[in-house]
Amino acid sequence: MKEDIKLKELEQKILAGVIPQHLAIIMDGNGRWAAEKGLPRHEGHRQGVESVRATVRNCNELGISVLTLFAFSTENWQRPISEVNYLMSLPEKYFDSELPELIRNNVQVRLIGETGKLPRKVQKAVREGSEKTKDNDGMVLNFALNYGSRDEILRAVNLIIKDLKEKNIKKKIDENAFSDYLYTAGLPDPDLLIRTSGELRISNFLLWQIAYSELYFTEVYWPEFSRMHLLEAIDTFQQRKRRYGKI
Ligand code: IPE
Ligand code: IPE
Ligand code: MG
Repeated sequence: MKEDIKLKELEQKILAGVIPQHLAIIMDGNGRWAAEKGLPRHEGHRQGVESVRATVRNCNELGISVLTLFAFSTENWQRPISEVNYLMSLPEKYFDSELPELIRNNVQVRLIGETGKLPRKVQKAVREGSEKTKDNDGMVLNFALNYGSRDEILRAVNLIIKDLKEKNIKKKIDENAFSDYLYTAGLPDPDLLIRTSGELRISNFLLWQIAYSELYFTEVYWPEFSRMHLLEAIDTFQQRKRRYGKI
């Protein structure tokens, strides 16, 4: 009961302030959450999906415009094959159960990362997720799947070289033009980046885009990341003074 009141109060406080337009989350700590409970790692990933469901709902309700979730990195292929396989079974399960609600809630699903190298069944699931929601104009839900920021930047450089050659473009590439070659083209940069599980690193996520994002690290493992934790992160964000080099 007391918790409920605290939650409501915090929610009202936050809704009176500036809600981050773009929130990015490094969803970390599934494995450790499971290990601490004596469970196999995949149970952590299973529970992690529940946090995804809840966080998508919460962000949508709070009026966040873009939510980017780091779900699988280009480095995560180095995990045991059984774990990779389990992780690769999750997008299909997620969309199977959530797609009707995402459509209803006007959420537009997008993917960032080298999705062409994902297993076929994953490609099919994410394609369906994005196609069936492409006309929605509410919150953009960006899944970073097989995503690596250095890969993304190099891909952009190579696309630029190709365009310059083929289209015989002579113009200078400025920051805006460069951003248009990234997977996140057209989206605003994240205002707030949250990483769960106590790790204090970026792990090759959105390196270009987070140049001026506010960073928020929490000890909480992703499977236990709740609405209250989200509100606390936004509350902290609202107390920051973003200076962008000015005074
Ligand atoms: C995050 O949890 C999920 C992915 C990276 C796919 P982890 O699986 O990294 O959990 P820890 O960090 O080992 O606890
Ligand atoms: C980052 O978490 C990738 C995702 C959350 C998908 P990792 O668990 O892979 O990061 P490191 O290895 O601890 O840096
Ligand atoms: Mg991890």
